[in-house]
Amino acid sequence: MKKSPDVTSILFGEDEIKERVAEIGSQITERYKGENILLIGILKGACIFMSDLARQIDGNVEFDFMAVSSYGIEAKSSGVVRIIKDIDRDIQGMNVIIVEDVIDSGFTMKFLKKYLKARGPKSIGIAVLLRKNVEQQIPVKPDYVGFECGDEFLVGYGLDYAGRYRNLPYIGILDPKVYA
Ligand code: IMP
Ligand code: MG
Repeated sequence: MKKSPDVTSILFGEDEIKERVAEIGSQITERYKGENILLIGILKGACIFMSDLARQIDGNVEFDFMAVSSYGIEAKSSGVVRIIKDIDRDIQGMNVIIVEDVIDSGFTMKFLKKYLKARGPKSIGIAVLLRKNVEQQIPVKPDYVGFECGDEFLVGYGLDYAGRYRNLPYIGILDPKVYA
């Protein structure tokens, strides 16, 4: 696909993403050998990552989803996490993996991990496509990280700005003039 004119450069291309997601899928397959896995995808950003990742896991995988909001339509985190959609099921005794698009400040993931842990899963892991600004983060330790990156605002492969660009098959830097 041609680069969107709103994207200044492509940071991670389709092939690179595919390769990395396959590696993470193999690691998860190894780690949970023979056990059931419940992937909890954080809508909407994680949906593309989760659907690709799930198909790279060789094992018994079930899906659930949560939707939370910590960003309005702005490009900065508010630090306030609100649940918009909760999981549908009891997760007691399950091997849960939270699947998220981006960890930036870490507030969203810290909240999610604590919230889900309180519901008594057997184990809880974190798979995140992108980890931004590692040094500035509050401590959350993701088990699987696709790529580390800097502070630019990124779109594509599930990541949006004001609801758009999720369908781009690559991850690119959004031209600041779009949100200026
Ligand atoms: P945190 O709470 O600061 O870690 O923010 C994480 C959330 O912010 C993720 O769920 C993303 O949806 C969103 N986010 C952070 N950076 C970006 C970005 O570059 N593009 C799109 N969404 C982002
Ligand atoms: Mg998100």
